[in-house]
Amino acid sequence: MPYTLTTPLYYVNDRPHLGSTYTTLACDALARFQRLSNGSVVFITGVDEHGQKIQRTAEARQLSPQQHCDAISARYRDLWSRWGISQDRFVRTTDPRHLQLVDQFFARVQASGDVISGRQTGWYCVGCEEYKDDPAEAKDPSCPIHQKPLEWRDEENLFFRLSRYQAAIEELVARDDFIEPASRRQEVRNFVARGLRDFSISRVNVSWGLPVPGHNGHTFYVWFDALLGYLTALLDDGGPVDLERLAQSGWPASVHVIGKDILRFHAVFWPAMLMSAGLPLPKKVFGHGFLTREGQKMGKSLGNVLDPELLLERCGADAVRWYLLRDIQFGDDGDFQQQRFVDLVNNDLANTIGNLLNRTSSMARKWFEDAVPPHTEAVDTTHALAKAADTAVALVMDAMASLKFKSAAEAVLQLAIAANGHLNDTAPWSRMKQPGQEQEVGNDLYAVLEATRIVGLLLAPLLPDLSSRILEQLAHPLDATSWRSQLSWGGLSSGHALPTPSPVMQRLELEEPL
Ligand code: MSP
Repeated sequence: MPYTLTTPLYYVNDRPHLGSTYTTLACDALARFQRLSNGSVVFITGVDEHGQKIQRTAEARQLSPQQHCDAISARYRDLWSRWGISQDRFVRTTDPRHLQLVDQFFARVQASGDVISGRQTGWYCVGCEEYKDDPAEAKDPSCPIHQKPLEWRDEENLFFRLSRYQAAIEELVARDDFIEPASRRQEVRNFVARGLRDFSISRVNVSWGLPVPGHNGHTFYVWFDALLGYLTALLDDGGPVDLERLAQSGWPASVHVIGKDILRFHAVFWPAMLMSAGLPLPKKVFGHGFLTREGQKMGKSLGNVLDPELLLERCGADAVRWYLLRDIQFGDDGDFQQQRFVDLVNNDLANTIGNLLNRTSSMARKWFEDAVPPHTEAVDTTHALAKAADTAVALVMDAMASLKFKSAAEAVLQLAIAANGHLNDTAPWSRMKQPGQEQEVGNDLYAVLEATRIVGLLLAPLLPDLSSRILEQLAHPLDATSWRSQLSWGGLSSGHALPTPSPVMQRLELEEPL
């Protein structure tokens, strides 16, 4: 069974923002980790292209919805490739195959008796593409997220009979392995405990949507169609669009990674839809937190939106990945602070890791004929750094498997700190001046270089670019098919030529606010 993971399918109402970039970077780290440790992975991302919000944005730009979607979808694809995202599938919900899949799925749900006609009245937020239960203001209510007026709706729609799944969903969300992190479980449990109500799955006033078979004038509610995009992506493997093939294509998903605002859709509505269609449920839904900037919510009106394209251009992928994955506990909200960003990148990556490699390899080259020094006891697994490396490897494996990117990054950093400590304690630069110390110095430098090699390897899922620059400097590249065994202590070969040292990480100098 492959490890199947998904990002949300992003709305194409606007170009990619830091929120979508954050989820995608985290998923990329997880996908790389799973590929290196287990092999088979299907990493899905893509775009959600229907609905009123997108229809209106296209109108405002005086483009047809399709033209608008083509342009923004291309931007997502392009941006993800510039960030080096390693997705296996990029799904678009305007793909004709998706229409086929939605029809098949709808037929199953109908056959289960879960589609009924009804009347939907209530306050709707087009930004959220969601009915809002209890707006705070009785008159002229607005959406607390979008700060825009809610729109009153009263229409005949088709409904999905969510209420029939009350008991099954209660049981699902009561489990301790379905919703992560644990801090998000209660909110969903409370929502379910208040009683699940049927929800409308069609619209009569939205032309930019997939037509509902047998119901002229109705298009599918954008969320009904969007969630199914995960299945379309899996079946996009060269074979026919056929729900019967899902099990061999990597369904159920191992994890859906999403932001906390769309947890309800993924942990309640989606599982009920799948139950109705007789399909297995995703194993896990992970709801991460929201990013703010210097303590403030990011928004166009505040003019403080951090543009991921600019961030990438000015700072590079390694720096941004490090900051987001190392500084924020994945699951919690996080704050982007420019000074802290610069400090962490310069201290951790440029100094602790980059300088360690640079100065150790320079000494090795100078005193040991441009090569990895010979060693007598440094391959001994009881060496203090060997133990530190083993600890780091075990911590990283555990942390990455449970999406604790911060703990994984800290464990790697600890190993680099230990290696720096060893270098400072043993001071090869002064011992080399004493006679007869060459062998000892060789041992020490070997151990430090070896720790650095393991740091480089452990960084492969988190910071793939920096990882490969480190390993290049050690002339011991990553072998993606044997990562785990490469992580054993003693892998550096003495006498192996070391290339001319060059800094692996540029320091960040940001004078102006980004
Ligand atoms: N189209 C839906 C998802 C459908 S999935 C079948 C959608 N798209 S979105 O583009 O609006 O949001 C995508 C993701 O970005 C969500 O997971 C959301 O939580 C996340 N974020 C939006 N703003 C964010 C921050 N400020 N910080 C972190 N993530 C944020 O919802």
